[in-house]
Amino acid sequence: MAPRTETSLNVLTTEIICGDCREVLQRFGDGTFDLIVTSPPYADQRARTYGGIKPQHYVEWFLERSAEFRRVLKPSGTFILNIKEKAERGERHVYVIELILALRKQGWLWTEEFIWHKRNCHPGRWPNRFRDAWERCLQFNKTRHFKMFQREVMVPMGEWTKTRLKRLGKNDVVRFESRVASGFGKNIANWLGRDMAYPSNVLHFATECANKGHSATFPKALPEWFIKLFTEPGDWVLDPFTGSGTTNLVARELGRNSVGIDNVPQYVALAKKYLFRKPFCDGNNAILWDRLTEASSKAP
Ligand SMILES: C[S@@+](CC[C@H](N)C(=O)[O-])C[C@H]1O[C@@H](n2cnc3c(N)ncnc32)[C@H](O)[C@@H]1O
Repeated sequence: MAPRTETSLNVLTTEIICGDCREVLQRFGDGTFDLIVTSPPYADQRARTYGGIKPQHYVEWFLERSAEFRRVLKPSGTFILNIKEKAERGERHVYVIELILALRKQGWLWTEEFIWHKRNCHPGRWPNRFRDAWERCLQFNKTRHFKMFQREVMVPMGEWTKTRLKRLGKNDVVRFESRVASGFGKNIANWLGRDMAYPSNVLHFATECANKGHSATFPKALPEWFIKLFTEPGDWVLDPFTGSGTTNLVARELGRNSVGIDNVPQYVALAKKYLFRKPFCDGNNAILWDRLTEASSKAP
């Protein structure tokens, strides 16, 4: 098999491996990956299908794995963790908050928190709260100098420019400091003539309801956004809890190499089915298929 760090525009590798990510990752060298994007089992949820880790054991369970994530991530790389604590007996669990603090102690920088707003969240009513319509996407890095390609995720300026930028007042053409002493200033005129703007840290993606044979898939748009923001074509992406292989599918569509790991053979089979449902048309099918077969034959 070619070295894991090989990056060539002519060869794209997608590996789906069955096993506990903690053990599987030991096969990979230090600093292999540019981006880790993943949604792990949430504490105590879906215990009958996978996971079922008690909230009080979650941090310890996760840290054993995130130590490996940290080792295999390049110093310029980013780790995105999609997670959400549930509510039980009238209050939210604090295990995610404890996890953030523990990951910082493990050496990670908690760089940012993105909110994934679930645009199509179905309605519901609970006696003491409203429906859950968002999840965390926590960003961790090894250093402050990580790769980031902000222009790749720019968004259209939107309709507001047509009215707001049409009549500029005297405060709009110079840097105008906030009147409420927030420390924020802006020069509205800077946006004149621009079609695109940088997005905020709130991401509006609809959940995908198609029955994919996995109970907790995230929408393709989620890994897509982070892969575009933090990697370049030919880079290496890892999803250590890959489930149906959404991350790997998107990584391949965007021309990135990827490794997906899941410890449930049924999900590994599902991921492979999705990845090879339609031929990958860039002339490298044979290579891709060979590598996938080779990787899967090593599954524990
Ligand atoms: C939330 S799901 C991921 C779904 C995925 N994002 C998708 O779109 O299909 C979490 C996955 O982690 C897997 N898992 C749980 N413990 C694991 C472990 N120790 N190593 C690898 N995978 C694990 C579960 O089988 C499950 O498929």
